[in-house]
Amino acid sequence: MLKEKIKNIESLEELQELYTSVFGKNGTMTVRLKDMKNLNNDERAELNRENTELRELFKSRQDELELVAMNASLAKQKLDVTLDGEPENRGTLHPVTQSFKEAVAIFESMGYTLWTGPEIEDDWHNFTALNTPAHHPARDMQDTFFLENGNVMRTQTSAIQIRAMEKLGAPIKIFAIGNCYRKELDATHSAMFDQLEGLYVDKVEKNINLSDLLGTMRVFASKFFGRDVDLRIRPSYFPFTDPSIEIDMKWGDRWLELLCGGMVHPNVLRNCGIDPEKYQGFAFGFGWDRLAMLKYGLNDIRAFTDGDIRWLKNSGF
Ligand code: DAH
Repeated sequence: MLKEKIKNIESLEELQELYTSVFGKNGTMTVRLKDMKNLNNDERAELNRENTELRELFKSRQDELELVAMNASLAKQKLDVTLDGEPENRGTLHPVTQSFKEAVAIFESMGYTLWTGPEIEDDWHNFTALNTPAHHPARDMQDTFFLENGNVMRTQTSAIQIRAMEKLGAPIKIFAIGNCYRKELDATHSAMFDQLEGLYVDKVEKNINLSDLLGTMRVFASKFFGRDVDLRIRPSYFPFTDPSIEIDMKWGDRWLELLCGGMVHPNVLRNCGIDPEKYQGFAFGFGWDRLAMLKYGLNDIRAFTDGDIRWLKNSGF
């Protein structure tokens, strides 16, 4: 009896075969249905009922057998939840970005506020207000990219000091990190580079002086490099500071230039509407990429921008 046969079938393949023999092109039911026109009403109703019943029986046996097959395969496949997953390809922070974030945290912890300025600067902020008027020889220290309208690609973040003092006046304690541009390119110079700038000006009674600058830099460098650092001072020249100094850091058995700075020149304060009789302070600036190079042991600055992500991946983030 067909119904019993369907119920007792034990494999999906056999069920499929049986189904074809009943409902296939020349299947028994197919042939009978084709002949329907020769039947009377009662016989037709009976055939339809039988047809529906058989289809349902096939369907429910198929569901049962599929469930059995799924349970069997689940029992066979053991899921080892302790195995490693597929490795995820995660993005990494660029070392310059990473070290930038660290510097922000360090300077903020010392009470400095992060400030920014535009990368296309006017002559006033990039040079003149920084006590570097037209034809001042110090303009030659920086190979400037000039734009047709007389603006420049910012050559130094010192321009941001001016913007900050114009806006906030004194007392003021800010720092800034930003891209600067100069026409130079070799292993230690890139045409676009990052500088970090700091400025701390307060009432003369507070007597902010060069040893405060040195102390600030010692704290910064030891936190940034994660160890005590030796610093030394050399005299230098910048139009916007007087006296001007350079600070070197002991690195292994060599002294490396860490940063430039000095006491803010009275003309610079005056240019920003601050009375140099009442206020004084220091400013400093350094090449940010160089610092990141030291920290991550790179010897070619161009690695930061050459698009090779291998060393980014190996930089420990
Ligand atoms: N702007 C200088 C440069 O690009 C660096 C610098 C020197 C910044 C002395 C300062 C400073 O704020 O006080 O070479």
